[in-house]
Amino acid sequence: MVFLHFDATGSGANPTKVASASPERLDPAYSASHTATMDTIAALRNKRDTRTYTDKPVPDDLVRRLLDVARMAGSAKNVQPVRMVVVTDTDTKVALQDSGDFASWIGTAPVCVVITVASNAGPRKLFDVGRHAQQLMVAAFAEGLGSCPVTIHHQDVARSILGIPDDVDPSMVVTIGWPQPGEKPPPQIASPRVALDAYASWGQWSTGAADA
Ligand SMILES: Cc1cc2nc3c(=O)[nH]c(=O)nc-3n(C[C@H](O)[C@H](O)[C@H](O)COP(=O)(O)O)c2cc1C
Repeated sequence: MVFLHFDATGSGANPTKVASASPERLDPAYSASHTATMDTIAALRNKRDTRTYTDKPVPDDLVRRLLDVARMAGSAKNVQPVRMVVVTDTDTKVALQDSGDFASWIGTAPVCVVITVASNAGPRKLFDVGRHAQQLMVAAFAEGLGSCPVTIHHQDVARSILGIPDDVDPSMVVTIGWPQPGEKPPPQIASPRVALDAYASWGQWSTGAADA
């Protein structure tokens, strides 16, 4: 595996490769123009969801860079059923609040990325959506941005606001913005992650570690 990083300043120089990988799977153009910001493992390990953002805008070219990372997520049979709609207009973001049961706050995010998936993409389509969402959010985190996935419970609301056709499912919103320092998660969902030994067992299913 190789970890390539990109430069938040966009200045770009040499890529940082912190491990070896199959070179034929690397995009030389991309590798040549991006440098390190944050260690990949640190970004994956430390990203938490943020819901309060400063007013500072997120530049369009930065959003495009995040989407360029997200679009590289694999999909079942490489069907690539995921498409994104980027929303920055305040009225549209506020209207989208009605598309989710826990989305009343998303109008305050500088950017809402609506993740859609082809309705006929099969039983694993939400796995595809999840892969795209996580790549988008971890890339955003590596750039210093906060983000949060938000469920679209009422797809017809999002469809009518954004002109999404009936054969495409609006699935999730990912909010993105510069994080407001000191944010604490809502108390009802603020709990530590499952301990590693309870999370994974080796060889056979086991709940023993979880009970210890
Ligand atoms: C599939 C999924 C749906 C979610 N839907 C919402 C949502 O509708 N509204 C919201 O505010 N957060 C939503 N979240 C964010 C979760 O509340 C969050 O991931 C969880 O509390 C862990 O947050 P943390 O990483 O900050 O600890 C969702 C997360 C996932 C993975």
